[in-house]
Amino acid sequence: MDQYIASIRSVFPILDQKVHGKDLVYLDNGATTQKPLQVLDKLQKMHLSLNANIHRGVHYLSEQSTQEYEIARERVRAFMGAESLSEVVFTAGTTASINLVAFSFGEAYVQAGDNIVVSEMEHHSNIVPWQMLCDRKGAQLRVLHFDDKGELILDELDHLLDERTRLVAVAHASNSLGTINPLEMIIQKAHAKQVPVLVDGAQGIVHGKVDVKALDCDFYTFSGHKLYGPTGIGVLYGKEKYLDAMPPWQGGGDMVKTVSFAHTTYADLPLKFEAGTANYIGAIGLGEAIDWIEHLDWEACMAHEKAMLDYATNSLSEIEGIRIFGQAEKKASLISFNLTGAHPYDVGMILDKMGVAVRTGTLCCEPVMQHYGMTGVVRASFALYNTLEEVDRLAQAVRRAQAML
Ligand code: ALA
Repeated sequence: MDQYIASIRSVFPILDQKVHGKDLVYLDNGATTQKPLQVLDKLQKMHLSLNANIHRGVHYLSEQSTQEYEIARERVRAFMGAESLSEVVFTAGTTASINLVAFSFGEAYVQAGDNIVVSEMEHHSNIVPWQMLCDRKGAQLRVLHFDDKGELILDELDHLLDERTRLVAVAHASNSLGTINPLEMIIQKAHAKQVPVLVDGAQGIVHGKVDVKALDCDFYTFSGHKLYGPTGIGVLYGKEKYLDAMPPWQGGGDMVKTVSFAHTTYADLPLKFEAGTANYIGAIGLGEAIDWIEHLDWEACMAHEKAMLDYATNSLSEIEGIRIFGQAEKKASLISFNLTGAHPYDVGMILDKMGVAVRTGTLCCEPVMQHYGMTGVVRASFALYNTLEEVDRLAQAVRRAQAML
């Protein structure tokens, strides 16, 4: 194992265990990543010595906790290249961020007869909130298709976008096909028609640095738990001009300035969108995960992910009867596949018995499955701490499963 990768791996103690008597090979990172000690230590420290509700107390612990929360927001801001802290809203995750925009942007900007464009490769969380919005408003959901390689057919956008298009919602990277979408081009085409773009970055920000200002996207969403941080925390980046014009999504504490039965006024951004007690410990943990990432040799990490993807693609391709889905030129480090005549759940269960953890099923992407006429796939998704030796274990396990089935 490469020494640098070994040093990364050493701060993830969960990986050093046996499952069904075999060394664990954790390849379900697209579903959630493991957490480095730096994050776990911070979470423990928060609970052991600093826990108090934020933005509410004048006492020492509350002030410390509030300060840590706002440091985390600044870390997220700098990490994404956002212009101001007002543009960084903490949410429960990508799904909550997209639902927030679908509701709130929808209230402000979408009317009967308008349309929203999503791509065919979206995760359900970047389809269903828009469908719900369209149902509520009498708007239309339009679909940008992909070809059999798993690349978006961008020419379609020219026909899909019109004067009634209110937003384009698209994944940075597909969780099922791995495709890294040409966001610059999509944003350029949409902006040429004054249409804002929301990027679902859940699988994108993990595999490459994001600069929302350079990208010029209007919204960008991601989850902490796929970025080596805690569960239950996520981010919504939004351009201030949109967030300002959007009404609050949820009402409650912290999102108000003054409340009376006659009239309530709302807090300034970003708190306007953070009703109730925020998951402040999750946010602080996410800030720590970002700090951990910022100290990595990112170029070496990305080269390692690419090496794993190439090696896995070659190794699996040699297996007779395997079909790999997603052959885009630019791909994140994950592979979805099926074995002829074998149900993906059976393959997943046999792999599990050999210590190899993968995801199976529709991957919350039924339209992608429908595109290929499948009911499900097996997905191996790699993170920085995985190794080429683990790719070998995957390929051996797939061969074994094939022989058994
Ligand atoms: N969206 C996550 C995945 O792709 C859960 O597995």
